Amino acid sequence: MSSASVTIADRMPEAASGLDDVVVAETVLSEVDGAAGRLVIRGRPLDALAGRASAEAVAALLLDGFFPDLPDDLPAALGAARAEVFAELAAADAGIRRLPPVEALRALSARLADGDDLATALRLIAAPAVLTPGLVRLARGLEPVAPDPALGQAADVLRMLHGTMPDAAQAAALDRYLVTVADHGLNASTFAARVVASTRAGLTSAWLAALGALKGPLHGGAPGPVLDMLDAVGMPERAEAWLSGALDRGERLMGFGHRIYRVRDPRADALKAGVAALAAAGRVDAGRLRLAEAVEAAALALLARRKPGRPLETNVEFYTALLLEALGFPRETFTCVFALGRGPGWLAHAREQVATGRLLRPQSRYVGPRPREAA
Ligand code: ACO
Repeated sequence: MSSASVTIADRMPEAASGLDDVVVAETVLSEVDGAAGRLVIRGRPLDALAGRASAEAVAALLLDGFFPDLPDDLPAALGAARAEVFAELAAADAGIRRLPPVEALRALSARLADGDDLATALRLIAAPAVLTPGLVRLARGLEPVAPDPALGQAADVLRMLHGTMPDAAQAAALDRYLVTVADHGLNASTFAARVVASTRAGLTSAWLAALGALKGPLHGGAPGPVLDMLDAVGMPERAEAWLSGALDRGERLMGFGHRIYRVRDPRADALKAGVAALAAAGRVDAGRLRLAEAVEAAALALLARRKPGRPLETNVEFYTALLLEALGFPRETFTCVFALGRGPGWLAHAREQVATGRLLRPQSRYVGPRPREAA
């Protein structure tokens, strides 16, 4: 090749498609050990938090140091933020109500001021807590239930959804879920939040970008399809044949596989324990649980046979689906509930990125046609 024909693309490294091994941030927020199947959130293993701490306590853990004016009583501050966000439901006109819930949540949340302060962060955490149950009730022709700022967030969300106080097992199960998904390294939605935050666009824009990334079926949009899969399988005895057919068609089994974990996702076990606790309290349909267990066992056996070179295990979304279904959330709102859990993580990462002072701006390698050399 003559030096004249060497292009800038020739001097560039190969594109890191999927960014698998690219490290673009240092973080104090969480560590995902994909080989050992361990998740650490601000120095605590997931086991020390899930089922033990409230969602508000883990939000305080994540936001600590990123908002100097973080109040000591975060549950009360979030309760007040829920009351403020409730007013946004008034904007849910017929056009917004026709949207899928995650899009309606995005449209209504976009109305929140795009500040960079604590008040904005609290309203963004509160937005899915209030808007998700409100949108469900509006879709059912029911009046939205106003938040009770004195309640814990998990209990209040379930009360706003059903119009009655949840029992302790139900509130504990939702808390366990929200804590389990609060932060998880540089997943696609958190990366999206950091990219947008790095431009100084503000917290609301970063949160909205993260929500957009979250809803895809390869990320936080998977648990609804997990239930679709269970419905399609129908009976435990049909699990293997159905799943085998899906793999023959080239489909992916929802709730299995992960970019980072090569062993079982520790969050799957945290949520399986949550489902077991709900079942012990008589809050999970026993037939549904038997079906899910049969599907999980058949899927793991099939994936091990069909993809021997690729360890594929149960991920967080499989038991998310069962847990949120048992709590009475419609499947199309699962991504909104995920956004409620992940909000503190997104916002802490956004602030951490801004503090680096660096705009995130990677490069691409041009492989398209070149203009002809001038004669
Ligand atoms: N079902 C069937 N095959 C699978 C699955 C699955 N769930 N997951 C991966 N594979 C196969 C792929 O088809 C591919 O096979 P091939 O090499 O023969 O083409 C191989 O395993 C590797 O797949 P990749 O796409 O390279 O794996 P990647 O790490 O990019 O994918 C992902 C991770 C997107 C989560 C994938 O496992 C998947 O699509 N799972 C189903 C959707 C899901 O559960 N998403 C939720 C993830 S958890 C979360 O984001 C909160």
